[in-house]
Amino acid sequence: MNWLEGEGFVWIKSAHVIFVIFWMAGLFMLPRYLAYHSEASAGSPESGTWKAREGRILRVILTPAMGLTWVFGLAMIAARPELLSSGGWLHVKLALVLLLSGFHGFLAAQVRRFRSDTGIRNTRIWRMLNEIPSFAVIAIVVLVVVKPF
Ligand code: HEM
Repeated sequence: MNWLEGEGFVWIKSAHVIFVIFWMAGLFMLPRYLAYHSEASAGSPESGTWKAREGRILRVILTPAMGLTWVFGLAMIAARPELLSSGGWLHVKLALVLLLSGFHGFLAAQVRRFRSDTGIRNTRIWRMLNEIPSFAVIAIVVLVVVKPF
């Protein structure tokens, strides 16, 4: 048994959960930034401030955290491939995580659009979209901790 399969597995899992928390924090914050940004008039100094904040949170927190969540998650599967046949929970979890990664990509595209004063400039829509990570997190954590099937 090598280090990754044995003692190292819990360290990899710790790193995984740490970057999950950073990624989720960013996925909760960025739609709210875009909701507030939608209230600022295009080209205004306030809009410029939100552009800087959105670019920074995406570049410094969200994208690195998503990447490292995937790296440590896949490292655990590589270390214990039997997890893939330990029930449907991991497959459904990965499907939800792919959806969450798609949502991340959608947000990144919107940040680019807001930079050129386009994009979905509707506060109500952003407040609704902000609920997506909440539902995903509840389902994913129950799947991976309870492993119901
Ligand atoms: C990005 C792709 C992901 C992959 C490949 C992945 C894979 C895994 C694997 C293989 C485990 C170990 C399961 C075990 O030992 O029983 C795990 C643990 C965990 N994952 Fe993920 N995961 C991913 C994303 C996420 C996300 C987005 C969340 C939360 C929103 C999450 C939350 C957790 C938690 C809380 C644990 C610890 C469960 C426990 O020890 O009981 N994972 N993950």
